[in-house]
Amino acid sequence: MLAALAGEVRSRPPFWLMRQAGRYLPEYRELRAKAGSFLDLCYNPDFAVEVTLQPLRRYGMDAAILFSDILVVPHALGQPLAYLEGEGPKLDPVRNVEDLKRLSRDRFHETLAPVYETVRRLSTAIPEGTTLIGFAGAPWTIACYMVEGAGSKEYAHVKRWAYGDPVGFGQLIDLIVEVTADYLCRQIEAGAETVQLFDSWAGVLPVGEFRRWVIEPTRRIVALVKAKHPNTPIIGFPRGAGHAYEDYVADAGIDAVGLDTTVSPVWAARTLQPRLPVQGNLDPIMLATGGKALETATRDILEALADRPFVFNLGHGVIQSTPPDHVAALTRILREW
Ligand code: CP3
Repeated sequence: MLAALAGEVRSRPPFWLMRQAGRYLPEYRELRAKAGSFLDLCYNPDFAVEVTLQPLRRYGMDAAILFSDILVVPHALGQPLAYLEGEGPKLDPVRNVEDLKRLSRDRFHETLAPVYETVRRLSTAIPEGTTLIGFAGAPWTIACYMVEGAGSKEYAHVKRWAYGDPVGFGQLIDLIVEVTADYLCRQIEAGAETVQLFDSWAGVLPVGEFRRWVIEPTRRIVALVKAKHPNTPIIGFPRGAGHAYEDYVADAGIDAVGLDTTVSPVWAARTLQPRLPVQGNLDPIMLATGGKALETATRDILEALADRPFVFNLGHGVIQSTPPDHVAALTRILREW
């Protein structure tokens, strides 16, 4: 995977899957039941290491992604967070400059120390030749959850703050930029060989706001991380960016780009791949569907992208109802390529 990120073309492209560890695996569900809450799982290195390794044992992916969640960053800033069964994450929303006073960096690294410990242990626990991926949410997506207090259809609160009071909202973004750069540096120092920035809600912004709240903060994080770790590749994943993928690739400073499910692989091969390695982008629902459809879709992606620097992945995370057998079938298709 590191060779592909450095621009080499491999006869068989490396692969890993976003959310490759998780509820579709019976061994994850079993351990999750023992761990207590999802956050207990994230903050317990024994459990987090084990969960990270589970998909590798079954499928031998070329990379392991640290098992954690993007929302540990607001949590470590002191924002109360809970994951409610069947409802997803819930945070006490911050909606204006006054609310920002409730956040603090004082216990940031202390709270995240178990995550760094998990990375440290993984760096020796994963098989030789397997790449260890660290990650964080990108500022816009983290702000979406911090301001809405949950997932959302419209993102009206966060957009109204960003559009109506860009200076005040900029203070929240600045805070996230600084702590996220620090957080990624600590992961790299603990042994992460590459890091991915998940911008899951990049696709909800109009073009000017996309530049201001997606491209610019990402570029600043990349610069801060590169100042300390110039040789660690950074993957950006601006999900839903559409035509703005081109601007993002040109200006965010990232080393490789994750394609979401809707991006045409043929377009990406022509437009993005001459500039940098790409990663993606099988529809996770195609993986859950399986059979001939999965095989054809996988081959179409490989045909389009495997002749240039490429990491095979999904266009978003594995969904819970995915039969583990389908992941095995995908692995076979990729190995036989
Ligand atoms: O990819 C991996 O295997 C590494 C682990 C990982 C998780 N979340 C584990 C998780 C990663 C990289 C993430 C990133 C993440 N988390 C994102 C960005 C990627 C994306 O999906 O867009 C986002 C937006 C989140 C926030 C989040 N965390 C949500 C919305 C949810 C609830 C969704 C759901 O499926 O219930 C989570 C919880 C979560 N994060 C789970 C896992 C395995 C499920 C928790 C459980 O076991 O109950």
